Amino acid sequence: MPVHLAINNGTPVRTRPWPVWPQPARGALGALERVLHSGRWAISGPYRGAESAERRFARTFAAYNGVAHCVPAASGTASLMLALEACGVGVGDEVIAPGLSWVASASTIVGVNAVPVLVDIDPATLCLDPAAVEAAITPATRAIVVVHLYSAVADLDALRAVADRHGLPLIEDCAQAHGAEHRGRKVGSVGDIGTFSMQHSKVLTSGEGGAAITDSAALARRMEHLRADGRCYPAAAPAPGHMELVETGELMGSNRCLSEFQAAVLVEQLRELDEQNALRRRNALLLNELLAEQGLRPQDSSPGTTSRTYYVYAAALPDDALTDVPIAAVTGALTAELGFPISPAYAPLHTNRLYAPASRRRFALGDEHEKRIDPGRFHLPVCERLTRRLITFHHAALLGDESDVRDIATAVAKVLRHRGELRA
Ligand SMILES: Cc1ncc(COP(=O)(O)O)c(C=O)c1O
Repeated sequence: MPVHLAINNGTPVRTRPWPVWPQPARGALGALERVLHSGRWAISGPYRGAESAERRFARTFAAYNGVAHCVPAASGTASLMLALEACGVGVGDEVIAPGLSWVASASTIVGVNAVPVLVDIDPATLCLDPAAVEAAITPATRAIVVVHLYSAVADLDALRAVADRHGLPLIEDCAQAHGAEHRGRKVGSVGDIGTFSMQHSKVLTSGEGGAAITDSAALARRMEHLRADGRCYPAAAPAPGHMELVETGELMGSNRCLSEFQAAVLVEQLRELDEQNALRRRNALLLNELLAEQGLRPQDSSPGTTSRTYYVYAAALPDDALTDVPIAAVTGALTAELGFPISPAYAPLHTNRLYAPASRRRFALGDEHEKRIDPGRFHLPVCERLTRRLITFHHAALLGDESDVRDIATAVAKVLRHRGELRA
């Protein structure tokens, strides 16, 4: 029998290389050199008579998002934990989070000794289902964390309304959505706090990094203390050579600061974010059309979305494509055709091997707590059904041109046509 699929040693659709991510911004090298010679590599070092790169990034990123404050931090994980603690979340509190997300959505909640309550997703956007959120609220609920997943903006109209109705803070996890907009406002500015990751894979990156944004001066001040061992910036800079951060003793923190190198890189990367987001969006729109013609269902965004950010491209395969082959066989075959990783969706958090709170003694706060944080207690049928059908890939593949997009669509058509070869 003739073999067609590359995974069975057939000829691949493509062997040309793909765009590489991260791409250094034009000014990144110069900015790094300036920090190297500045005499200050961290905000916990002495003031040198000039604004720190960290302050410059905080100012620029707050302005970019249309909010009053930005507190940079070491990672997205750190930013989420700052946000949760600043909102008063602590031991035994319940926090609602989506069942489909990166593991940090649950691990940060157990990380502040609270209880993640995982709820189901909207099948079109793959983000939190507002009705499921409302149904999960109890007297112990202390906050709602929404994730703008892959390329979607979650239904912020409905989620903001649910949060307000119940007097709960809404935290927007924008780790995957820098620059996306809801009714003309940047994501992260609709919730009480918006958090970001600048880890290597993200559309705005400094290798590792994070930030939390807010309009509330009180929340920003709490987050500043939490991320710098209980210290914060003073109203006026000190004399050069003296420490800039002031030891207030207001709130104990721990060190989760961004370094000056990372902050300097972020200022430069941010200048190119909108242009790169627009290119990814253009290519994604064409791919949406080409895949819809083949019966796939590309991920949607909520009705209030005015601009999407493609961190990951996701589409659901048609029902009949997977009757006798598992999703991992299809994504493996696509990867072989394209020479670029095509993956299934994240495993839902209640079945995800990375989310295993019982593996750490730190969370062994008693039998009752351990039962409450047991991921196995959740039943999330939409997450389970959809993750068996989704193919996803990283945004780097959307940074090329139309021929790249056509290669992806060709590979999908080829694998679906010859999927019989995957059965063996
Ligand atoms: C939705 C989401 N939240 C939080 C994080 C955590 O960010 P970091 O890896 O910078 O800690 C990530 C990272 O992938 C993420 O995708």
